[in-house]
Amino acid sequence: MSEYRFPDSFLWGGATAANQVEGAWNEDGRGPAKTDVTTGGTRYEKRKITAIDKDGNKLFLVRGEKLPEGAHYAVLEDQYYPNHLGVDEYHRYEEDIALYAEMGFKVYRMSISWSRLFPRGDEETPNPLGVEHYRKVFQCLKEHDIEPLVTIWHFDTPLYLEEHYGGWTNRKLVDFYVRFAKTCFEEYKGLVRYWLTFNEINNTIMFMGVANEDLDYQEAYQSLHYQFVASARAVQIGHAVDPENKIGCMICGITNYPMTCDPKDILANRHTWEKNIFYCGDVQCKGEYPTYAKRLWQERNVKLDITAEDLEDLKKGTVDMYTFSYYMSTLVTTHEVTDLVSGNFSSGARNEYLNYSDWGWAYDPDGLTYYLEVMYDRYHLPLMIVENGVGGYDTVEADGSIHDQYHIDYYREHIRAMAKAMQDGVDLIGYTTWGCIDVVSAGTGEIRKRYGFIYVDVDDQGNGTLDRSRKDSFYWYKKVIASNGTDLA
Ligand code: BG6
Repeated sequence: MSEYRFPDSFLWGGATAANQVEGAWNEDGRGPAKTDVTTGGTRYEKRKITAIDKDGNKLFLVRGEKLPEGAHYAVLEDQYYPNHLGVDEYHRYEEDIALYAEMGFKVYRMSISWSRLFPRGDEETPNPLGVEHYRKVFQCLKEHDIEPLVTIWHFDTPLYLEEHYGGWTNRKLVDFYVRFAKTCFEEYKGLVRYWLTFNEINNTIMFMGVANEDLDYQEAYQSLHYQFVASARAVQIGHAVDPENKIGCMICGITNYPMTCDPKDILANRHTWEKNIFYCGDVQCKGEYPTYAKRLWQERNVKLDITAEDLEDLKKGTVDMYTFSYYMSTLVTTHEVTDLVSGNFSSGARNEYLNYSDWGWAYDPDGLTYYLEVMYDRYHLPLMIVENGVGGYDTVEADGSIHDQYHIDYYREHIRAMAKAMQDGVDLIGYTTWGCIDVVSAGTGEIRKRYGFIYVDVDDQGNGTLDRSRKDSFYWYKKVIASNGTDLA
């Protein structure tokens, strides 16, 4: 069957993040990030962040938990840290890029590890080895006619900034980030044109814990404000360095539906969209805080440090495209929920009309069409889906083949959902699937939760040859790209 033909300029590709693929965590002068003191976990067992307390005892913290007074983050000898190895992309990027080219990628989304360029984060000048590494990667992409799409921050603030400055709760981080971003724009001018300032910036507010609520929300909204300012300043610098640069926000896109037609659920759903999704997109695309921000702050008794200069920067630093990830939808309700499902760091009521992955994420391609239509109408900006996919178990057959039909089925329906929105006039310019090669899961630290078109022979303890092989989905996606979406069979 011939399907919708995507525009010739459509950017087909795949996406990864430095901390989840590179490995080489302490090579060539790189400093550690939080992921380097984070152990593996599972769907049911949280990843632990390791530290030593003031008396020398080992500490195991979970995401969102604060480092106690006098303690410091530490790599413990008896623990395994999956991000230390990733899938060894730092040493194998040439091989991986050749495989992306074989699939016909037009674009490859990747991130720059902040602590590879600025090992502590507060240095005046970058680490030359780090700068050179990414130059080589971009040149390699260029040789294969693949456009890089670069995320400047993908969950990897240097650990030193977390420990010594309190991370993003500290305004100083704005300047450190801006220096890092400026270095990227200047060093890679001519090699990179597409940039994203912060990966899934809305996670800060969407997935936060509920303990000590007022304090959490105060810090979360404040940290977000500093990230907005940092992003807006980076956008202005990016445009000044090279007017050709196209810079996007990156929102974790989850489609929310009311669970019932109780007006209380309808209102709660609307407010969920505002808090979790629109809040960040509105600031980054429209350049100012929306009217409902006041309500959100009041609800949590939040008082923000916002200067007149910040507001000016937000106005001047709006993004060129609305860029987002999409995996799943969720239900919102004010009623008691007995059948809870959790996925993508969040949990909600089970939707009886949908199926769920082995990790509890809802399959909902219609939710993607819905999301695209809402966002295009709201912002009138070009859209790009920079993450989409499903993680599952893969089996290597005796002859080495890997029949990952579930990936193909997932992508086929989501590409159809994109086509539907585009036929209705939505300006979608690109699509990078998540984990085009198997990666270390951000949520659980597992590698067996496999997203890739390319299989990596490594397990959750780092055993394996790290050899790459092509799954069935590899050949399928190659055909999709070559036919510009018309052949999804
Ligand atoms: C997004 C992140 O939240 O989802 C990625 O930007 C992450 O870094 C992806 O890997 C999938 O989540 P997970 O937990 O399956 O790795």
